[in-house]
Amino acid sequence: MKRVKVSAPGKLMLFGEHSVVFGYPCIVTAVDLRLSVTVEENAEYFFSLEAPDLALNDYHRSRQELGQGDLPKAASFLETCFSLFLKRYPQEQGIKVFSQNEFAASYGLGSSSASTVALVRALGEFYGVNLSKEDLFDLSYQTVLQVQGVASGFDLAAAIWGGTLYYVMPSAAGEKPIVQPILIQELPLLVGYTGIKADTSILIRKVQALRSEDPAQINDIFRQITDLVEQAKQNLVLGDFAKLGELMNQNQKLLRQLQVSSSELENLIEASLAAGAYGSKLSGAGGGDCMLAMVGQSQKIATAQAIEQAGGKIIEVKTNAGGVRLEKTL
Ligand code: MEV
Repeated sequence: MKRVKVSAPGKLMLFGEHSVVFGYPCIVTAVDLRLSVTVEENAEYFFSLEAPDLALNDYHRSRQELGQGDLPKAASFLETCFSLFLKRYPQEQGIKVFSQNEFAASYGLGSSSASTVALVRALGEFYGVNLSKEDLFDLSYQTVLQVQGVASGFDLAAAIWGGTLYYVMPSAAGEKPIVQPILIQELPLLVGYTGIKADTSILIRKVQALRSEDPAQINDIFRQITDLVEQAKQNLVLGDFAKLGELMNQNQKLLRQLQVSSSELENLIEASLAAGAYGSKLSGAGGGDCMLAMVGQSQKIATAQAIEQAGGKIIEVKTNAGGVRLEKTL
């Protein structure tokens, strides 16, 4: 029986969340926690999905049902993705999909995006359709837009290209994103999880609403964030971690003005700074999920302890990980 397994990495937003949704640049790094998708022939149904990490088992759809009606949240990305793939590359053979995650979906490390990218790559391999990185991005981005309504696609770029990237979203549907690899080594970062799952769509809408109320002020914040992104890009290459920490603190100040931080995030950020981190900020949508602290070697243990004492959970990750890859074909 034909079977294909593909894995893709999660991500951490380093600088530029939220403003990236409005066309400004951001910097993202892929992490070594991966999500894998296995696709194999299905003799019984057109589409079956098992995602035990999302408590989804025994989920089946006929060809006519595929992508129709209200999809359960746990199936929405992968089912939408398969349905869009078939519109572009019609196929007769049905599939079973098995999705497996090395990290909890609640961390906000990009599990939906990683699984979407892994599925598109696996479908290409399974059906013998040659897909470039740009094709992978385009189909994955259409999926995310259909499920989520609005998104920049930065997490898809991290899952596809891997490494650490300077990213600008496509200017219109079907256009290409700007993806520039920043060639660096491992970053000395600590990641603290607040224990609270953020709702990205709600937070994006909140920023959209603020911008409609006062476009001049919010655009000015976006421009200041962009200035930090450009400085961070240079300092990443220079490996100036103290300066990068300072830029993180400034980025966090602006995120507070966008009202996307939370008391839980602020507690962890404050604790890490008091313990001697160079700098600290939320990472991603805000409202919960994770914070990052840039920290020197001598301060690392004390800072990790301080984050845990403040109620955070340290998530062990390595930055700058490889992008989507084929694991096995049988
Ligand atoms: C969420 O992880 C980051 C946001 O910038 C949304 C996006 O870029 O799609 C808030």
